Amino acid sequence: MAENILILCYLVASVTFILGLKMLSSPASARKGNLVAAAGMTIAIFGTIFLYEENGIKLGNYAWIFGGLLIGTIVGTLAAKKVKMTAMPEMVSLFNGMGGACAALISLVEFNHLAHEILVTGITYGHTGKILIIALGLIIGSVSFSGSMIAWGKLNGKVKDFSFAGQNILNLVFLFVALACAAWMIIDPSQTYLLYIIFILSLLYGILFVLPIGGADMPVVISLLNSFTGVAAAFGGFLYDNKVMLTGGILVGAAGTLLTILMCKAMNRSLLNVLVGSFGGNKNAAAGGASGSQGSYKEISLSDTAMVMSYANKVIIVPGYGLAVAQAQHACHELEKILNEKGVEVTYAIHPVAGRMPGHMNVLLAEADVPYEKLQEMEQANDEFKTTDVVLILGANDVVNPAAKNDPASPIYGMPILEVEQAKTVIVNKRSMKPGYAGIENELFFQPKTSMLFGDAKKVLQDLCAEVKAI
Ligand code: TAP
Repeated sequence: MAENILILCYLVASVTFILGLKMLSSPASARKGNLVAAAGMTIAIFGTIFLYEENGIKLGNYAWIFGGLLIGTIVGTLAAKKVKMTAMPEMVSLFNGMGGACAALISLVEFNHLAHEILVTGITYGHTGKILIIALGLIIGSVSFSGSMIAWGKLNGKVKDFSFAGQNILNLVFLFVALACAAWMIIDPSQTYLLYIIFILSLLYGILFVLPIGGADMPVVISLLNSFTGVAAAFGGFLYDNKVMLTGGILVGAAGTLLTILMCKAMNRSLLNVLVGSFGGNKNAAAGGASGSQGSYKEISLSDTAMVMSYANKVIIVPGYGLAVAQAQHACHELEKILNEKGVEVTYAIHPVAGRMPGHMNVLLAEADVPYEKLQEMEQANDEFKTTDVVLILGANDVVNPAAKNDPASPIYGMPILEVEQAKTVIVNKRSMKPGYAGIENELFFQPKTSMLFGDAKKVLQDLCAEVKAI
């Protein structure tokens, strides 16, 4: 009876994971999707704790289990409540690393159980499948753990990019030796020390694999490591013959892989190019494109900006990383409402990699209650710019850089961009003429129809609201 209820719990949990993922694909349902999947995970966890039995024996160890759950819940809740939107990739990386560590620990513990069984029974054959799963779970989980820790350190500025000649070759050697040890362990499972060699080599592989990658390319790497953790968890599901762990692991693995591909596509870079490091980390490459001053630019005052925007029919706002840094989303929504009251049509153009993580701008604007229907995806916005009077760019840079279309020497050449220069007037708000994430100058800022409105996005928007109201 308990077993049947547990199977039902796992089925319900698996369905909620799939529904939750589906709901995450739209900003309107994403919050609910997260809750639905979390509810499913809670059912799976409590079902396992109270209903799982092996040979009629329940799990027990409740003090340890609930002690761990309590500590994890407190730490997770506090961290999630405190984290700033711009530090979200950092937190995802840290949490992902914990998932990888769990998968690696499962392999270590289960191999020790198996080694004990072999010692007692003396039967050394017939364990191939299990050892293979243990070794692969250990390798992938450990790489994900150590790689995610380095990614976390890079994102919070504590770890610097580091590489040396022959690093890739050394890394391949580590991987090859770890796999060879796994093969040897299958042939002779009594050589338990091999497990620890695999563990150490995999940790080193994860560290050296992520160290040379440019800090700014970390979101892509984190997504890739996320998919590794999913695969490692799926191996755990195989090991325990646990269907919900398997389903969850496969879903995380697949979602992480798809997200990695999506981000690479949106930057028009191959995964290899990201991993070997091109822009972001490699400043030489970044400087190789449209570098050097491109002439003069013109500034616009707040009152002139207010005037131009108030008398426009159609305004498109392009949010970028700077808007997130300035936490200017509420002021931005305020400006949109004031302009709406004056009869100006205002929408937002969202580039798929604006900001520092997928969906960054959508989440930011949702936080300020900007209606979803006001957000336009890149393709749609690019059709709209031709008939737009004013484009207001708020802390965005690379995602509106025409060099991506016009300059084959630019490191961002080929990246699809928001073609804002098609609008009648372009106003760019940022604090200085400094480059954005790719480290290159933006030719848009020097075009005749572009005006620069310098200042912190939040302050500028608050002042702009007051100016527009007064007109
Ligand atoms: P960026 O190109 O990084 O430009 C952001 C601009 O914001 C900077 O030029 C900065 O100029 C300005 N800024 C910073 N703080 C500001 C403040 N307080 N007020 C006003 N402006 C401020 O950002 P983007 O256009 O959003 O492009 C995103 C970049 O990240 C792309 O290159 C993309 O490939 C990369 N990336 C994104 C992702 C995802 S999934 N989103 C993943 C990996 C990489 P000042 O310093 O002069 O103010």
